[in-house]
Amino acid sequence: MSDDRISKNDAIDAALHLDGDPEKVRAFYQDWAKNYNIDTTSSDYTGPVISSNLLQQHQPDTSIRLLDAGCGTGLVGIELITLGYMEVDGFDLSESMAQQAIDSGAYQQVLGEIDMMRAAEHYAASTYDAILSIGVFTLGHVPPEALEVLLQLTRVGGVLVISTRTHYYDDSNYQQVVDRLLANGQIEILQLLKNAPYNNDGDGHYWVFKKLS
Ligand SMILES: C[S@@+](CC[C@H](N)C(=O)[O-])C[C@H]1O[C@@H](n2cnc3c(N)ncnc32)[C@H](O)[C@@H]1O
Repeated sequence: MSDDRISKNDAIDAALHLDGDPEKVRAFYQDWAKNYNIDTTSSDYTGPVISSNLLQQHQPDTSIRLLDAGCGTGLVGIELITLGYMEVDGFDLSESMAQQAIDSGAYQQVLGEIDMMRAAEHYAASTYDAILSIGVFTLGHVPPEALEVLLQLTRVGGVLVISTRTHYYDDSNYQQVVDRLLANGQIEILQLLKNAPYNNDGDGHYWVFKKLS
């Protein structure tokens, strides 16, 4: 797709109509990467600020080891480093998005070409004190079961901060996956912000989980 077709909210809308096929998602973000920061800024995207502040409330120790899963161009990492967090890694499916995260200077390590559903093949279990995944649990991107993958990479007692767009939450089995993890004693919900600001196209929910087992 050319630049003039992927611009501003058209791109944000188009991102929601990907069907979750990693190849399509990768190709889409390869094209959008260079305009992503401008487009999201002009859409009043609040995910990085709200999620980083939630992390700080629950994990104020800035020496903890963090993973930004689906880091994109690094907007979350930039917020985290502003709050004093120094040990932040990231990964993304799109190499172009990951390259911008590297260029942001906010991360210790960034890996591109990583599909979240297969992330456990690239990271040791229980590596991270906290994981954030913002703007990724959204229509056409990852299935709710990706939560289970991210849990594997989190240490017991660690925290996950996840955003879900409201239409993703409404149209997917996200709540069932959360209910199963709660019933199995694997997580507890530390905080849930429902219908909180996300961007000028709609609201989102922000979930803070603690890994129990
Ligand atoms: C809307 S952007 C959000 C980026 C960043 N977290 C932010 O808040 O600006 C969604 C990102 O998720 C990535 N993504 C989508 N599906 C993925 C998958 N299966 N595995 C890893 N990353 C994925 C895309 O490449 C893109 O960079």
